Amino acid sequence: MSCCTFLSYSSGVSQKFRSVISCVLAEASKPNIPDYYPILRRLDPQGARRRMQKYYQMLIDVFDCIIEERVQRVDSIEGSDVLDSFLHITRKENSELTRHDVVHLFLDLFVAGLDTTSATVEWVITELLCNPEKLLKTKKELEQVLSQDEEPNDSDISKLTYLQAVVKETLRLHPTAPILVHKSMDDIDICGFKDFRVDDFGFIPFGSGRRMCPGVPLANRIVHSMLASMLYLFDWKVADDDEILALQERLAA
Ligand code: HEM
Repeated sequence: MSCCTFLSYSSGVSQKFRSVISCVLAEASKPNIPDYYPILRRLDPQGARRRMQKYYQMLIDVFDCIIEERVQRVDSIEGSDVLDSFLHITRKENSELTRHDVVHLFLDLFVAGLDTTSATVEWVITELLCNPEKLLKTKKELEQVLSQDEEPNDSDISKLTYLQAVVKETLRLHPTAPILVHKSMDDIDICGFKDFRVDDFGFIPFGSGRRMCPGVPLANRIVHSMLASMLYLFDWKVADDDEILALQERLAA
């Protein structure tokens, strides 16, 4: 499997990667009897553990392949991207970070960050299509904030206050990882680590407290810039039956 093709959205590897991530998330959201009766864990009665191990191994193989390519590259420069930075740390003497850790770190980031972000973008577009007057308002704001012929960039996000409100409301209505609040009733101490009480539960699509999503700044940037581009560059409407039929025929041809 060549990792270079991973860069292209339509490549076999990236499509496969995307579908494995979806399988991981589908599996993780299914009820699993051993979670309630740990004594059954070794039996794995629903086969969830076996399937998860297979999916994780497939993802690990992809990351391993990408990392191996990077390790072999002679022009890899420290700090040129996050992978190069991690690899430079692993090469330092007495480094506590190993290549194995880097693979698993990327695994965590991709599993946690990919579908959550894309599902949020899909929900925002869906909600706007169901509320055409809000779609119009969002597009108007984009036209006012961006100068003509200019494509949206990260620095525009802070000025797009209506879009920000649309994203917040969508996350409130459709949290991608619901029922994940870890709440402690009192300040507690676990092996010297303090788990502090958190009382702010007004807006929790990213969780709350110490275990809350560490990807919030990145997620906010990606979600808003994707939406700003998609809404500014294209006109969105719900397709009628004839258009859907024509599209299906085109795809089947
Ligand atoms: C709209 C996008 C996202 C949403 C709604 C979201 C939501 C969440 C939620 C609810 C949790 C669980 C928090 C808890 O257990 O209390 C979580 C955990 C996590 N998220 Fe996100 N997330 C998003 C994007 C991202 C991105 C882009 C990344 C990184 C690339 C990321 C990395 C993580 C990681 C590593 C965890 C596990 C933290 C832990 O278990 O300690 N997330 N996320």
